[in-house]
Amino acid sequence: MKNPLYFLLPFVFLFSCQISKAQGLKDHFENDFYIGAALNMRQVNGSEKGADSLLLLHFSSITSENGLKWGPVHPKEGEYRFDFGDAFVEMGEKIDAFIVGHTLVWHQQTPDWVFKDSEGKFLDRENLLNRMENHISTLVGRYKGRIDAWDVVNEAFEEDGSWRKSHWYNLIGEDFIERAFRKAHEVDPEVQLIYNDYNVWKPEKRKAILDMAKTLKAKGVRIDGIGMQGHYRLNFPSLDLIEQAILDIHEAGFEVHITELDVDVLPRPSDVEGADLSLNFAESEEWNPYKEGISPVVEQELVDRYTSLFALFKKYGDKISRVTFWGLHDGSSWLNNWPVRGRTNYPLLFDREKGLKGRFW
Ligand code: GLA
Repeated sequence: MKNPLYFLLPFVFLFSCQISKAQGLKDHFENDFYIGAALNMRQVNGSEKGADSLLLLHFSSITSENGLKWGPVHPKEGEYRFDFGDAFVEMGEKIDAFIVGHTLVWHQQTPDWVFKDSEGKFLDRENLLNRMENHISTLVGRYKGRIDAWDVVNEAFEEDGSWRKSHWYNLIGEDFIERAFRKAHEVDPEVQLIYNDYNVWKPEKRKAILDMAKTLKAKGVRIDGIGMQGHYRLNFPSLDLIEQAILDIHEAGFEVHITELDVDVLPRPSDVEGADLSLNFAESEEWNPYKEGISPVVEQELVDRYTSLFALFKKYGDKISRVTFWGLHDGSSWLNNWPVRGRTNYPLLFDREKGLKGRFW
């Protein structure tokens, strides 16, 4: 006999379409990984119109873009500025996000005084360790139980897998990494701890990172995940290279975090990959081809690139914990100023008006 409620079916169908329309990126990948964005001050304190509703709809994780780096948060000895950090954490709690602090120890955006004594001479190992550990205690301690994960050390290796000869390495030695992770764990035993770097798709660089991380783990040091920054281009690196990196990190016993995803659509004056911030070319028309708007062909290439990247990430949803975009929308991307200053770039999934570029889920 025909069910008397059959006549309701079209209404049920229409209603479920409404619900799925309201679903964001984060809902689609809910069973796979968090979807994150790196945020700036205007986005966390509510002064950028529409930022909070975009976050609420599409994102389940946030990362501090610049505001918790040493320079902005601890500009002078004994002077901390927590206005960004406090607003950032509050925003994360408001939208119930997985909150990531970036970053405790890095060779960039760290003021010179950190490495020197009052006479301008480089510190010795013990004094620099002391300074590093105090900084870590202060930051991790302040947001204990509120920040869910920290990028503890950023970019300690060169492209060929050798140690980056940073002041941290030169003045302390290799174990600055171990000491940083140990301190962060001691201060907040619950917080997840990540090592983060760019071009992890390069086998020789990845090997050095994983050897370091496995050695620490074998010594009982907490290290949960490896962050692959994910500053990619339209055709490079290949999906195969990225896939191998995901598999190797997992095989070594660590969670995979895609920490700083963006896809540069502009030409580059030199053959650089990754995110070496020391590159800095002057603005020029020649390198700024889409000043008045991106061509539909290139925009489609961008959407296609994201479609295949996310298909790969979804395939390894059991190994990847988080996929974070480095910026909320094109207007707030660092790629408008790197490696050439003052360009108009389109590297993210949301445009300058916060519109979604293509629906690939
Ligand atoms: C690196 C750093 C980030 C950010 C980007 C570019 O990837 O980890 O903090 O500075 O470069 O802005």
